[in-house]
Amino acid sequence: MTRKIIIDTDPGIDDAMAIFFAYKAKGIEVLGLTTTFGNVPVEKATENALTLNEVAGVSVPVAKGVALPLKREPLPHPDFVHGKDGFGNIDWPVSTNQPVAESAAEFIVNTVKAHPGEVTIVALGPLGNLATALELDPEIAGLVDEVVLMGGAHLEYGNVTPVAEANIINDPDAADIVFTANWQVTMIGLDVTHQVLLDNERLARIKQANPVEGDFLMQAAQHYINFYGETFGVEGCYFHDASTIAYVLQPELFGLELGTVRVACEGIAIGQTIVAPEGKIFPAEAWKNIPTSQICMEVDSEKLLALFEETLSN
Ligand code: RIB
Ligand code: CA
Repeated sequence: MTRKIIIDTDPGIDDAMAIFFAYKAKGIEVLGLTTTFGNVPVEKATENALTLNEVAGVSVPVAKGVALPLKREPLPHPDFVHGKDGFGNIDWPVSTNQPVAESAAEFIVNTVKAHPGEVTIVALGPLGNLATALELDPEIAGLVDEVVLMGGAHLEYGNVTPVAEANIINDPDAADIVFTANWQVTMIGLDVTHQVLLDNERLARIKQANPVEGDFLMQAAQHYINFYGETFGVEGCYFHDASTIAYVLQPELFGLELGTVRVACEGIAIGQTIVAPEGKIFPAEAWKNIPTSQICMEVDSEKLLALFEETLSN
């Protein structure tokens, strides 16, 4: 069964991996890309999304989204991770195409209502577009098939603070709205993405088999791989965003835990995804009467990366 998805994104090198993965996957139909600030300003994220479409030779609509967090001052863009251009400073020729006239939130609402019950939202950046779409039309929560988001950390350390992951801390208020809305959320957090390492050997095989997307990813990934090597002492880069696409295609590659998730929106733990595991009772009210999320805790890393390589190589 082909799954219809909207990808909400802040491209971003691992976003690019996810977007190409989705475009090449037989079991996925990408209805649109919606862009957000995060790795780069939203203007750049939108230009990068249009550029990825040109590289991939597709004409999927791109809708520009939020430029700032819902309530707080933005954090600096992580040029040290994704480069100033969001693609590892490779100066790839930028697209001159234009986004659609709708905002990202309007695009999400209109597309979900045009395909009731069929659309999965795959969120790869801060969650302001999803929160804005819910505010625009709260009914969409009941019309979305699933929200699969890269973000958060349950038992794993964060990557911005000891407890906060980048997509969540970039807009904690929006994230808390998303985790407490009445839809099915599946969290692909650092608990699993820190188990999946994409290396240059695999990228070289992909480039050999597919010199179009493969060449782009090989070039863009070097800055990202260098960052992870210097920071974490690993050979390769963590496969954050693209792991969501593997989940959409083959959820059986993941082991998950059920629980209700709240996001800390102030104080030293701001951006922490705090999980109340199903079956555990706490006196605190904050985790009661909200929908249960699926939190991915295990992953078959080798099968996931093999699926990515096979999909990109065809
Ligand atoms: O923490 C990793 C996440 O933050 C990924 O989505 C990456 O692209 C950045 O947005
Ligand atoms: Ca991202």
